[in-house]
This record gives sequence, C-alpha cells and structure tokens, in this order.
Amino acid sequence: MLLLQNYKVYSRETIKVSSQNVLQQASDVNAEPLCELTGILITPSTTDNILELNIRIIKEHVRTSGAVVFKGFNLDAALFEQFSNSLSNDFMNNMGSGSWRKTQNYSSDGTIQNVTYTYGIGHQRTFPLPLHADRAYVKSRPEVMFFMCERPAAEGGRTTVCDGIDAYKGFSKSTRELLDRKRLKYIRHYQDGEWQTLYQTHDFSLIEKYCADYDMLLDRLRDNSIRTEYVHTGVPLTKWQQTKSFCNSMQIGLWQEYVMGRKTTFVRFEDDSEIPEDVRQEIDEVTEKLTAEIPWEAGDIAIVDNTRMLHGRRSFTDENRSILVRMCRSVEW
Ligand SMILES: [Fe+2]
Repeated sequence: MLLLQNYKVYSRETIKVSSQNVLQQASDVNAEPLCELTGILITPSTTDNILELNIRIIKEHVRTSGAVVFKGFNLDAALFEQFSNSLSNDFMNNMGSGSWRKTQNYSSDGTIQNVTYTYGIGHQRTFPLPLHADRAYVKSRPEVMFFMCERPAAEGGRTTVCDGIDAYKGFSKSTRELLDRKRLKYIRHYQDGEWQTLYQTHDFSLIEKYCADYDMLLDRLRDNSIRTEYVHTGVPLTKWQQTKSFCNSMQIGLWQEYVMGRKTTFVRFEDDSEIPEDVRQEIDEVTEKLTAEIPWEAGDIAIVDNTRMLHGRRSFTDENRSILVRMCRSVEW
C-alpha cells in the first residue's frame, strides 16, 4: 500500500516525485520519462515477458503519469489481450462512436479493435487526428485506453498525447473561466445508413434505449437521419487526481466541422453559441506545445488515462500502419 499513498495529488512536481518513488522500487523494469512533457517509458530489465511485470507498479505509473509506453516486450494481439485483461475485466465495444473500427478478436470478447479507418473508401485514411479523449461526446466513456502498435507507419503516424491538467493550467484565465462556466454540447447528425453502422444495429428502439441510458437527446428526422445532443463539461475531474483537466472531444469535433467540412459533428457551448475563434486558437496553441509523440515500433503498447489525457495522431502516408485499441470502461484501482 506504500506505493498508493500519493496518487491523489496533482501538482506536476508531486507527480514526478511520486513516479520517482515508484521507479526506485521497480526492480523488474526500467522506467524513465517518455519525454520532457509527459508520460513514462518502460523497458525490460530482468524480464521481457510483460506478464511477469509487477502489476502494482504499472498501475501506479498509470495513475501518476497518465500515459505509460512499453517498449521491448514484443507484444502481439493475443499477448495484448492477456496483458490488458490483467488490469481490468470491464472492456467495452465501440457502439455509438463517431468512428468505425474493425473488431480484431471476434473469437473472445470482441473489444480489441483496429483503428485502421477504411470505412466507405476501402483503403486507410492517413490524415492527422486532432487531440481528443475517446468518446467524450457520449456518456459511455472509457476510463483507460490501451493501444498496441502492430505495424508503425514507415514515416509519421505517431500517436500523440497531451496532459489535459497541464493544458487547463496553461490556458488564460478568461478561457479557463469560460470552460468552467459553460458546458460543451456535442451535436451529431447521421444519415440513414450511417447511424446503423455506427450504432451497430438496425433496431431503432435499441438506439432510443442507448440515448436514454446515456443522457442524450435523440431526434429521428423525416429523412430517417438521426440527431443527438450530449452536454458535458469540457473540463471534467480526473479519476485519480480529482482535478480539472481539459479532457474532451472539442478539438476533433471542431476539426470535423471547420477543417473537414463535414456535417456530422458540431461542438457548441450548451447555450448553442459557437466556441469563439480566439479561444479555439489559444486551445490549439497551448495543447500543441504540450503534445508528446509515441515513437511506435511493432510490439509496443501504451496505456492512457482517458479521464486526464488527450490523444491524437500525426499524419502519415503508409497505409500499412496498424494500431490496435482496447477501451476499458472502468478499472477498480
Ligand atoms: Fe481516439
């Protein structure tokens, strides 16, 4: 229990001290900062079998640093599943998500998915993805994300991470106050044919139940398209520090509307006002300065606190890039 005493603290310095305490007691791994900005990198010391690592130390790194990358353990999809099973037994599928993912492990629980996004065009999209927390636009949001690199892109394509606690602290007082005062409204509008894919059902009553269960307003329009609204703070409290973090799907939603010109996702304040352009710019600038990259090699994995950290990806051209993801609804630690 000694290792757990510091996890409910949130200053950067205290987090570092807490992590260092853990490092001193970890004999079976080498642990060092992922970079100057954020995260922990773990490499083998006495064993390269990830299942033999001290699970208590790994949990503490996740709690204190928010992002833990493992290199040199040469995981495959089966080992990835086994290892993530050792940290939780509550995984979720992607029903109601804004993106389509191919399920990788049909033979077991079907919660390992490949983020290779080919839907509708038959080949992988390679554009960069802005920072976001997964599924922050719906109430069914995973607490922890597991990523595994099957094949890195030949160039680019790194997953990005940004500490939302640092981002919130880095904003101007007026932006912090605005985010404190006004919650975000995620408006999503899917055409007939689209929503059946994203909600993984043709049964509209199941979507009605889903939206009722997760506090979403649902409208079925005359053309059989559906429109949903979900309102939630853009600066929720983190699971382990219980402190405010800029951890939401604002930037990726705004990117879809303003950069990609899509008509499916809109992010507004709850009073339907737009996020002011200067605020959007400030948020992009501050978060970009705080963004670290995961230098993927095949067999690497990462564990990310989805209540605290934002993640995204850099652009790439190599369509063979393959990253697996497993969303953990909750953990009991
Ligand atoms: Fe994501």
